[in-house]
Amino acid sequence: MDTYCVFGHPIEHSKSPWIHARFAQLTGQALAYRKILAPIDGFATSLQTFQAQGGKGCNVTLPFKTEAAALATRCSPRVSLAQACNTLKFDGQEILGDNTDGLGLVNDLVHNASCNLQGKSLLLIGAGGAAAGVLGPLLCEKPRCIVVVNRTLDKAVRMVNRHAALALAEGVDCQAFDLQHEILHSQAFDVVINASSSSLHQGELPVPSSVLSRHGMACDLMYGPASQRFMDWASSHGAEPRDGLGMLVEQAAESFQLWRGVRPPTAPVLAELRALLAQS
Ligand code: ATR
Repeated sequence: MDTYCVFGHPIEHSKSPWIHARFAQLTGQALAYRKILAPIDGFATSLQTFQAQGGKGCNVTLPFKTEAAALATRCSPRVSLAQACNTLKFDGQEILGDNTDGLGLVNDLVHNASCNLQGKSLLLIGAGGAAAGVLGPLLCEKPRCIVVVNRTLDKAVRMVNRHAALALAEGVDCQAFDLQHEILHSQAFDVVINASSSSLHQGELPVPSSVLSRHGMACDLMYGPASQRFMDWASSHGAEPRDGLGMLVEQAAESFQLWRGVRPPTAPVLAELRALLAQS
């Protein structure tokens, strides 16, 4: 049976084995998928071992996404822009690298939440790994503008500069500011995406509620308790809150398709996973 896995540290929390097992059942694909805890300084060796044992491909989560991009022998343009890789496919001696996080977010917003991004104004909060993974695919949806804000301005500027050619090609006005910039007090956005880890910490959210539009979308890339503060804040100001669970299922579907050439149905899997998490 073809085997796949997800590498991370920690990895115990990962829902990916459950998601891929459901995808395999629903598409009639025979495969096994497990989680592997790689030592912090031993990802390359763990990957090599898994490949030598006949593994066909893997997902990669924190903290190995940057290292995975470096270990891939061929990368999609999405990996170059994100500087991170969450999906590897073994093809003979080649290791193909892709990043499906941003596609997962876009598919969840556009298809699951019926939130078309074309012509919209977007606020992306954060400029770390999570934000870098989604900026490219968000630009490809041709929103009117994407404003990236981050506590450390320099990181946001570098991330936006890296995407400048894509923004130009897609006709998107994409700019970077720090969290003190007046644009956060003078403009409301159709879609607000929280890609910062600030909801994990106590204290205020990093942006004022004036950035939210009534009935606009407010999406946190995290799910479960980690996303709750942002979701409560968004709904208490009239925005439509969304967590990152749909993105999780959709990015998994993109990886599954890359490996198996088959598109799994995501709606039932997302509904089941949400019910499962609500019970626990
Ligand atoms: P991830 O891979 O989850 O994106 P990361 O690369 O460490 O993790 O990035 C975390 C993001 O959350 C960064 O944008 C970080 O801002 P800095 O670049 O200034 O570090 C942001 N962040 C973390 N804690 C924050 C806080 N308390 N307030 C505002 N932004 C915060």
